[in-house]
Amino acid sequence: AAGDDPTEVTAMSETIRFRLNGRPVALDVDGGRTLLWVLRTDLGLTGTKYGCGEGTCGACTVLVDGEAVRSCRVAVRDVAGQDVVTIEGLARGASLHPLQEAFMAHDALQCGYCTPGMILTAYAFLKKIPATTDAIAAALENNLCRCGAHTRIVEAVQAAAAKMAGGN
Ligand code: FES
Repeated sequence: AAGDDPTEVTAMSETIRFRLNGRPVALDVDGGRTLLWVLRTDLGLTGTKYGCGEGTCGACTVLVDGEAVRSCRVAVRDVAGQDVVTIEGLARGASLHPLQEAFMAHDALQCGYCTPGMILTAYAFLKKIPATTDAIAAALENNLCRCGAHTRIVEAVQAAAAKMAGGN
């Protein structure tokens, strides 16, 4: 059925250790399974979305050592020893991240399916590059939103950029 883990029925498990949202995890899994499905089915972190499964839509984007990566294309063994952040790890306690607040304030979503990937892609990008409108639009060009919220998404990211300049 749609949404089932296509890599779940497999053989050998190994122990994979990494940091997830700031905490160490150790998993006995088949290291060839994708990070996407391990996050969703083994760890219950369903904020990371399954869209295309082919690396083209961006719905599954997470941060690995600060870089935005498409978790549907990453074997879980490849993040061993690394720092993985999902959308669940972005808020600080009860405080949403400025990007999350800005997406709400700017209505930068409709169905919300693309939102975690959009926010994490924007997060990684804003750490590196000055946030002009054109640069934001270019950075998010390959994160697909079928609701057509792109204009508001870019506005939200721009609003968050100013707050993030303070180091969030
Ligand atoms: Fe990974 Fe679409 S589900 S890029």
